[in-house]
Amino acid sequence: MIKHAFKAEETELAPSEPILPTDPIAPDEHIAPAPRISIQAFCETMETAAAVQAAGEDRRLGKAHLKIQMGGAAAAVEAYRSSPTPNVILLESETRSHDILASLDQLAEVCDAGTRVIVVGRVNDVILYRELVRRGVSDYLIAPIGTLDVVRSICGLFSPVDAKPLGRIVAVVGAKGGVGASSIAHNVAWSIAGDLNMDTVVTDLDLAFGTAGLDYNQDPPQGIADAVFSPERIDTNFVDRLLSKCTDHLSLLAAPAALDRVYDFASESFEAVFDSLRSNVPCVVLDIPHQWTGWTRRTLINADDILIVASPDLANLRNTKNLVDLLRAARPNDHRPFYCLNQVGVPKRPEIKVADFAKALDDDPAATIPFDPQLFGTAANNGQMIAEISSSHKTAESFRHLAQILTGRMEAKRQRGGFLTPLLSRLRQRKA
Ligand SMILES: Nc1ncnc2c1ncn2[C@@H]1O[C@H](COP(=O)(O)OP(=O)(O)OP(=O)(O)O)[C@@H](O)[C@H]1O
Ligand SMILES: [Mg+2]
Repeated sequence: MIKHAFKAEETELAPSEPILPTDPIAPDEHIAPAPRISIQAFCETMETAAAVQAAGEDRRLGKAHLKIQMGGAAAAVEAYRSSPTPNVILLESETRSHDILASLDQLAEVCDAGTRVIVVGRVNDVILYRELVRRGVSDYLIAPIGTLDVVRSICGLFSPVDAKPLGRIVAVVGAKGGVGASSIAHNVAWSIAGDLNMDTVVTDLDLAFGTAGLDYNQDPPQGIADAVFSPERIDTNFVDRLLSKCTDHLSLLAAPAALDRVYDFASESFEAVFDSLRSNVPCVVLDIPHQWTGWTRRTLINADDILIVASPDLANLRNTKNLVDLLRAARPNDHRPFYCLNQVGVPKRPEIKVADFAKALDDDPAATIPFDPQLFGTAANNGQMIAEISSSHKTAESFRHLAQILTGRMEAKRQRGGFLTPLLSRLRQRKA
């Protein structure tokens, strides 16, 4: 039986810019994760195979199943004579001529309908593009390619241009307990919704003790627990009904803050809730408790943006450094997690200077928020946000600044090039 060409409808092809594999994603770019798909790559060069391999390890392809082999289009034609084709085939063609077209025609004979084909080639030529489009090829990348080119291309196949863009997940976590991570998460979410007019959902993941309900002066009967304990019921309508509306653009998925049961979750327990939220809201702010469990680790690694909140002491510095190192290693194609310093300037408390903290981490804080018990205490007791108490206060301004950075509206000032300072050597000496 002669099988169909790769794809029924034609796709607009645009040659991708070559990007070095080490370039992290731009702050304002958002690549939605790919669904559970199968991908097979047939490479001709080790460089392309390495880029594809690295792409397969990217968090956005975490659900995809990737197999790489060498041999290019000829190997693909051979392989699919006797076996079904996957969701995506990536073919590399080293040749500088249009020979790839003949191989594609052969491949079309054995390719299942619905399989998408991405071609990596060396020829930058509009006539070739046109011929590839005519054959239903979904994307054409010009070698040398970087990891993100592959991630972007594959994920792009599953988020059609006319579909609603998926929401951005912003995770906020404290380097230590009680450093103000929740206060900052709630105030930043308030600003994303109110100042940037982005529909936002705050998800309180501290199920036993979360304070989002108190902070927003809400006491909803339902919330995150109803979703996470009934995974079979999760869909956008169900999750939508669990939200309580705080302002025009801000809703809350509240924690029960009750101790009638315990909250031991498996690593993937929250996946379905997050997927449902991100398919419906442009911005989801996660208030993550200060814990290190399978699900907190996974949630941080899979977030689009991360904010670590720290207070200026040695334990916070060590924990921030450990979190940043782990997250950078697990997310090599993303920009590094942001951090902010909070509760700076507690009277009589010896503190690590902001400049030293920044030097030790080789990165400036995205914001530095002073200790202000009057302001924060009033806000907490009244169930109000800082901006509601004083919109022009410098701390309210810091929350607006964080909101812009975390949604990619503004690039954070980064300090680069320094090396570890005596503070971190002190930590290492202690370990030894
Ligand atoms: N900059 C600040 N100045 C003074 N008080 C603050 C500041 N930031 C937060 N707080 C107060 O610190 C307390 C702890 O804040 P919050 O609950 O946000 O911390 P957390 O890191 O989320 O704690 P937990 O580990 O319990 O989740 C609250 O009473 C809050 O009002
Ligand atoms: Mg908290």
